[in-house]
Amino acid sequence: MYLTDEEKRMLDGEYGEGTALAMRVQVGIGEAFGAERMLPITRAHVALSNQDADVWFAEKLSGLDAKCKIAPTTNPGFDVEYFDKHVNLKPVDMEQMNRTYKAYQKIGAILNFSCTPYLFDNIPRRNEICAFSESSATPYMNAIYGAKSNRESALSALCAAITGVVPEYGLILDENRKGEVLVEVKATITNDFDYQLLGYAVPKKIGHKIPVFTGLPSSISPEAIMYLCAELNTAGAVPMFHILGMTPEAQTIDQAFGKNQDYEVVTITDEDLKDIHEKISERAGKIDFVLLGCPHVSLDQVIKIAYMVEGKTLKSELWINTSAHTKEIVNRMGLLKVIEAAGGHVIKDTCIDQPIWHHLEGTLGATESPKCSYYAKRRQLNFVIRPFEQCIQGALEGEIV
Ligand code: F3S
Repeated sequence: MYLTDEEKRMLDGEYGEGTALAMRVQVGIGEAFGAERMLPITRAHVALSNQDADVWFAEKLSGLDAKCKIAPTTNPGFDVEYFDKHVNLKPVDMEQMNRTYKAYQKIGAILNFSCTPYLFDNIPRRNEICAFSESSATPYMNAIYGAKSNRESALSALCAAITGVVPEYGLILDENRKGEVLVEVKATITNDFDYQLLGYAVPKKIGHKIPVFTGLPSSISPEAIMYLCAELNTAGAVPMFHILGMTPEAQTIDQAFGKNQDYEVVTITDEDLKDIHEKISERAGKIDFVLLGCPHVSLDQVIKIAYMVEGKTLKSELWINTSAHTKEIVNRMGLLKVIEAAGGHVIKDTCIDQPIWHHLEGTLGATESPKCSYYAKRRQLNFVIRPFEQCIQGALEGEIV
């Protein structure tokens, strides 16, 4: 593929071994996908996982003195200090998170540790070329903001942040961003939770194609979109979608589909959502805990929780994962102490897929998130999946209907 002189200098090691390694990865990806050239990026988000391969790669690059040209925001690991105080944290787990912290700090990443950077920290404009990993972040920025990113891995997004470029292929090119299948939503969509089920149901019917949704309400909350994005990439791999008349590249059916006018049509019915819900959720009943925030709950949602639990005592443990910003703001609002007085935990920097939840192993919890249930299963956490408000009510009553 064609490389500029500057890109060749990076590849030849003029900017150090770390940058050269990152550039080799970028060129390898470009050649694999038939890219003709690199394009500069303006933003990146690295879905670090604090798991072995991720820590190994970040340490390798930082050990070779790589530095990010474009400082990327980062996904959560866990809040070492908080968990050290509240659960029996294993030294090995603490050590791993500290290694992640140090490697990403040295490499020049933005340590916001949140999987919803598109709500606060890292908001692209239309047509910005970016390198985003993270299941809800990539479709959110592509579909809602009209920015351009392939569905990067944590590792390729980190290489892009270091080199400042991405190979030009896939969703970077306008012709690959068009809809491929019309999804007529005939199911009744009344609340944000319905988008969790919709996101989980759609890939089962369309595979990895780019959906164009019709039949959705004219106003959709950011949380509902976040849920849709997260589940499209839990049950499938859908980094781009359109909502007819709403998202910037789908104001008309012609714009949404471009040349793909012989598109397939599928429908989603109430029955589809009900079937999925029954399949992925445990049965209702007594619960030991509630775990929310996969992806991280928004500021409005934490405020709602505070009003629901104010002056009451929770019967089940309540763990709320959110961003550091949100936690700080609810603290300033006096609402953090309201939730804590009820017995709840508001946690920053933390992901549900971390080795810190052992005290919940083998017990039954409730969550609003099919993604949480899917990933936490391998850690022996089981979930009844219910709408957000019902989960809070469940934490208050110690059981869920
Ligand atoms: Fe966020 Fe971890 Fe869930 S990164 S979306 S809390 S799996």
